[in-house]
Amino acid sequence: MTKFIVFEGIDGCGKGTQILNAIDLLKDHTTLFVTKEPSTLKTGKLIKRLLKEQDDPKTNAELFTNLYTKDRKEHNKIILKQLNQGHTVICDRYYYSTIAYQQAQGDNIKKILKQSKKFLVPDLTLVIDIPAETAMQRLKARGKKKEKFEKQKFLEELRETYLKMPYYEKILDKNSDRKENIIIIDGNRKPEKVFEQIKEELKKL
Ligand code: TYD
Repeated sequence: MTKFIVFEGIDGCGKGTQILNAIDLLKDHTTLFVTKEPSTLKTGKLIKRLLKEQDDPKTNAELFTNLYTKDRKEHNKIILKQLNQGHTVICDRYYYSTIAYQQAQGDNIKKILKQSKKFLVPDLTLVIDIPAETAMQRLKARGKKKEKFEKQKFLEELRETYLKMPYYEKILDKNSDRKENIIIIDGNRKPEKVFEQIKEELKKL
């Protein structure tokens, strides 16, 4: 059976490494479609450009919510098509990022949650949790040009929201047939240990 799996977490949480591990594990069992948000579609590209141009994380919240939502609408069609063709989809970030990032930017959480409910529900969402300080150190070590969201205090706020996902899960599922399956993974361990836990969750699917 095909599955839709999402990886989430603050910048520098180790998602990239764990996605590669998951691909390595799953590729022998199923055909995979690996994707990300912001997507590589038109709106996704525009978002990436804006993120590089702007420095203050607390600006343009509404604009960003609208752009990520527009991108997600287009991207959802591709994900659905892949699932219908029998492929398992792995997606790096999804509406949980909007819940965390655009809320931290100052946008209205009720509105964000309402919009999020309209999208395909993942079979499994893995939130990799690490302290903001560790994330910041990793991002510095990578030495990439800094993007809008990579400021420590902002990362701390994001982390708090990600840790509250079990609470948002209830709101998202309320009065509907949808069923979230959000698991918080302690990412502050050796990558192999982190993956052991992820593997267990993937096996349950
Ligand atoms: P990108 O470099 O594409 O991803 P990553 O850091 O995961 O490798 O940057 C995407 C940035 O966009 C990241 O800082 C998180 C942010 N973002 C949001 O603010 N809202 C969203 O809905 C999504 C999907 C991402």
